[in-house]
Amino acid sequence: MEFLVNEKSELLKKLDEEKALKRAEMHSFHRYYGKLIPAIPSAFIKKFTKKGGLVFDPFSGSGTTAVEALRNGRNFVGFEINPLAKNIAEVKTRKLDVNLLRQFNDKILDLIYTKEYKITEKDIPFLINRDHWFKDFVQTDLIKIKKAVDDFFENYLENSEKKDEYKKFYLMTISAILRNVSNADTRHVFPGISKRMRKLEAEGKIHIDVIASFARAIKKRAEYYDIYKDDVNAEIILADSSQADVEALRGKVDLIVTNPPYISSVRYIETLKIEMYWMEYVKNNVEYFTLADKMLGNDHLAKKDYETVGLTKYDEINVLIEDMKLIDMKNAKIIEVFFNNIEKVIEKMSIVLKSGGKAVIKISDSKIRKTKVETGRFMTLIAEHYGFKLKDVFLDEINNNSRSLTTARNTYSDIITHDYIIIWEKM
Ligand SMILES: C[S@@+](CC[C@H](N)C(=O)[O-])C[C@H]1O[C@@H](n2cnc3c(N)ncnc32)[C@H](O)[C@@H]1O
Repeated sequence: MEFLVNEKSELLKKLDEEKALKRAEMHSFHRYYGKLIPAIPSAFIKKFTKKGGLVFDPFSGSGTTAVEALRNGRNFVGFEINPLAKNIAEVKTRKLDVNLLRQFNDKILDLIYTKEYKITEKDIPFLINRDHWFKDFVQTDLIKIKKAVDDFFENYLENSEKKDEYKKFYLMTISAILRNVSNADTRHVFPGISKRMRKLEAEGKIHIDVIASFARAIKKRAEYYDIYKDDVNAEIILADSSQADVEALRGKVDLIVTNPPYISSVRYIETLKIEMYWMEYVKNNVEYFTLADKMLGNDHLAKKDYETVGLTKYDEINVLIEDMKLIDMKNAKIIEVFFNNIEKVIEKMSIVLKSGGKAVIKISDSKIRKTKVETGRFMTLIAEHYGFKLKDVFLDEINNNSRSLTTARNTYSDIITHDYIIIWEKM
């Protein structure tokens, strides 16, 4: 099949029907940019797998595919390179007891309100320009909450197997409210203090109450957990999916649903910089950039990194790289690295998928220095090399969540034109 948009796709109809259904509130546990809309995994999980089957996402992010797999009675396994995202996905996919959470909520709030916790400078995490992001009392309240959570799980709870999972619920809720209690504008993708915020501040219209925000947030989130009925599990593995060992999964996966990072300049990690530092997933600049550099689509390159630009196995992609070299070596390198790494991921996808299994990819083209990069079509070229056959391709509306990311790109990378949904079948 040629890579041509199928306007009459039956699968597109199926997806539209799924979009009309109510989404699980669990998807709102924590902000994450570039989230899939839940209808995408849900529609294709129902269509292409049976109860008890195994769904895989090599870029699991905040776990949208994972949540939908569990909700629909399928198991899930995924890779994710960002430890914050891994933990968001984990907290959303653990079967926590709503009644227990309600009881824990009361006790933890009681500790916060009644106990005196001594807070010193060394309790406060490292964050560049910390005082720019958080008011003093906000920092103190956040630490107080953290101490009460630690105290509760250390001293007020019998040892239980699931202790860590319950504790993670509270830690990830702290992470989830950070942006709201910071000075950064919650309407912006990348953290920053906008004119609007400065104006509101000057007019005395900003009222931050950290403890009340936390109390509301845990109360609301505890109720999200009534959605998992079946005996299935999700495993999120912290790994670079272009390097990960997939032997244990060989031929076991029934369906892949994923949206890979877009090529160049979508700095997922930067959108959650405040959370990454405050929750201590990174403790300094070096750790931060080491992680950023490992991300697919990363555009943080030093000059020496792009003095030489290599090629791929694919003539059509090479033409693009050669053309880009004439315009801009840095972007030529970004494209080369992206496709060579995505090739490694596609190879792994082909190893884990059962024959006859489907892979559903949501991806869009990019424009880099006015040159169109047909990411979806090129990925399909690569996939055909690894035993996949193109079954269907149709366009999907870009949802607001990913639109905000695509318009927040940097200067040399233009906005995305389409979002494709591409279906491959493993032969
Ligand atoms: C478009 S997002 C996926 C979002 C996810 N579908 C969701 O709904 O939250 C792409 C993800 O790929 C992750 N990522 C980037 N490079 C990676 C790599 N080499 N290995 C594994 N994950 C990677 C990013 O951290 C990001 O979470």
